[in-house]
Amino acid sequence: MRAYHAEHQRSIDQPDDFWKEQAKRIPWFKPPETILSYDDQNHARWYDDGELNTCYVALDHHVACGRGEQPAIHWDSPVSEQRRTLTYRELRDDVARFAGALAGLGVEKGDRVVIYMPMVPEALIAMYACARLGAVHSVVFGGFAAHELAVRIDDAEPRVVIAASCGIEIDRVLPYKPILDQALSQCRHRPTACVILQRDQAKAELGPIDHDWQSLVSFADAVDCVPVRGTDPLYILYTSGTTGKPKGVVRDNGGHAVALHYSMQHVYGMTPGEVFFSASDVGWVVGHSYIIYAPLIYGCTTLIYEGKPVKTPDAGSFWRLISEYRVKAFFTAPTAFRAIKKEDPDGVMLEKYDISCLRALFLAGERLDPPTFHWLEDLLNVPVIDHWWQTETGWPIAANLQGLDPMPIKAGSATVPVPGFDVRVLDRSGEPAGPCEQGNVVIREPMPPGCLAGIWRDPRRFHSAYMAAFPGYYLTGDAGYFDQDGYLFVMGRTDDVINVAGHRLSTGEMEEIVGSHAAVAECAVIGIQDALKGQVPLGLVIAKDGFDGDTDRLERELVSLVREQIGAIACFKQVLVVSRLPKTRSGKILRKLLRTIADGETFAMPSTIDDPGSLQDVHDTMIDRNIGDAHKARLR
Ligand code: COA
Ligand code: AMP
Repeated sequence: MRAYHAEHQRSIDQPDDFWKEQAKRIPWFKPPETILSYDDQNHARWYDDGELNTCYVALDHHVACGRGEQPAIHWDSPVSEQRRTLTYRELRDDVARFAGALAGLGVEKGDRVVIYMPMVPEALIAMYACARLGAVHSVVFGGFAAHELAVRIDDAEPRVVIAASCGIEIDRVLPYKPILDQALSQCRHRPTACVILQRDQAKAELGPIDHDWQSLVSFADAVDCVPVRGTDPLYILYTSGTTGKPKGVVRDNGGHAVALHYSMQHVYGMTPGEVFFSASDVGWVVGHSYIIYAPLIYGCTTLIYEGKPVKTPDAGSFWRLISEYRVKAFFTAPTAFRAIKKEDPDGVMLEKYDISCLRALFLAGERLDPPTFHWLEDLLNVPVIDHWWQTETGWPIAANLQGLDPMPIKAGSATVPVPGFDVRVLDRSGEPAGPCEQGNVVIREPMPPGCLAGIWRDPRRFHSAYMAAFPGYYLTGDAGYFDQDGYLFVMGRTDDVINVAGHRLSTGEMEEIVGSHAAVAECAVIGIQDALKGQVPLGLVIAKDGFDGDTDRLERELVSLVREQIGAIACFKQVLVVSRLPKTRSGKILRKLLRTIADGETFAMPSTIDDPGSLQDVHDTMIDRNIGDAHKARLR
């Protein structure tokens, strides 16, 4: 661990020197002289006076340096039975022309553009076209319903919205245009134009502000990269917080490019020219960082996969992709492998493919549970690396650094803090926790380059959500501990955020929706364990006086309400109507205790409980309805 310790220590002791050196990895129009500075909230900013363009760094620069004929992207879409490869030169030209089309619609530096697209190459083209113009993109995951899209449009106030006519979920064609139209009808903000990529599976009807992608591009001229400052925003990515209003995480240009470049070498052990495959979605941070930006910034080839780990057509899809495209590093969420394991427990599908090209498997998005880790370790002959990060950081906070100093793997650990991140574990009073003592995982300021530059137009929320709990430290919202060897174990959230099939969702938001139903007096939504998805939400509801007693109907209505408002992705499928909810004497619902019971753990009657009988009632109802492992829960 010597090389690691030296590098990590230097990054913490001399952040200026360390990140000045790393900044030389990327081509700047004007190299930064100021490396680390602080904004008016005393939050770290990186490379403020440097000038660059992220699209130039990722595309034009590589073409200029001789990578023009190297594949930049392979698109593989079993659901549409299509494949396409674009070289760096072809991609640069497509991006430059689409940027010209956007400029023709009035998009300028600093303008926002919302992108609502499935896993097609045009999603990447749209993102880079925004970057080329210095515009700020905000990609909304295709699985979100109209209301979620509307909330994001109103917050980002885009000049233009870019969408595809449809997405494809296994064999279901999901038209996107009606969702966009419905979202716009709910919005206060009016974009001046929408650009629609027409897909053969479902053509959209175009309205007065809609433009067809192809015809727009056919009349457009290519445009050049617009220089932006290191601290200018590249994108806003909304993520779930503890309330219904998602947080618009803002990422800058300079720190982002430097951090991602550093991570490709040190965390993932990649060499330019190799193929990197991340099976996520452009709508999530993993998609932004490790499908769209990092592989190209680093000169690798990225794989865009429009399909699922299973059923498109079978549990061998990932192995096929790794083998066909000679993938060197593969990254996905543990839930994807739990889905594969369920269909192919003995790994029979793997025998059909030669995946000897694969050097390492990386997992994140949720904790890599030891059973899935051991299954993968037995199946594959490569290191199986858990690593921990979040939308806010944009790149790994803790990892087993394959390109710097690979370490022995311990099941359940995300291994060690990545250089740049000064990770600590604090107890409730802010004192350092001892080895193996669980507490709040925090990051000491300054956060390294690439981390969030703020919450879009909401500095107060940024402060209260992340900086207020432990002054001088960024609150990750995760609980965990360091063991005696300095390995970090991240165990779960300390707030109302849950992780469903690797997707981050807010139970607080679901409570707001459930609570808005006319028959609901009070409710709690908790995340309970699920063998496939890691966690799934469970709603507990008290009906209002005068409710007609048709609990089945109420439960169905609540399930559809959440599906309509958030989308199918919420996986909100279980609701229990109960007569009372366990609360403290001060009226706080004992959500943690409810989770403990649903997960089948032993529980103690809290001394603060107002009505002990309510707990027994809920427990009995959970057992009646076969919820989770509630039948195993015992009062201690
Ligand atoms: N557009 C529209 N709908 C979508 C969607 C999208 N992009 N993605 C998911 N959905 C829908 C699904 O069709 C499903 O709808 P249904 O309830 O009508 O069946 C619902 O949202 C729930 O989807 P999901 O939780 O993904 O369940 P699934 O059974 O379809 O797939 C997994 C399960 C584990 C295979 C899948 O979630 C997966 O691959 N997860 C990995 C996540 C990931 O990569 N996270 C990023 C961090 S690395
Ligand atoms: P997201 O912002 O969607 O990437 O979700 C981030 C959250 O997912 C983190 O705060 C953690 O709660 C969880 N998470 C992601 N990766 C890991 C991991 N490797 N181990 C444990 N939790 C993880």
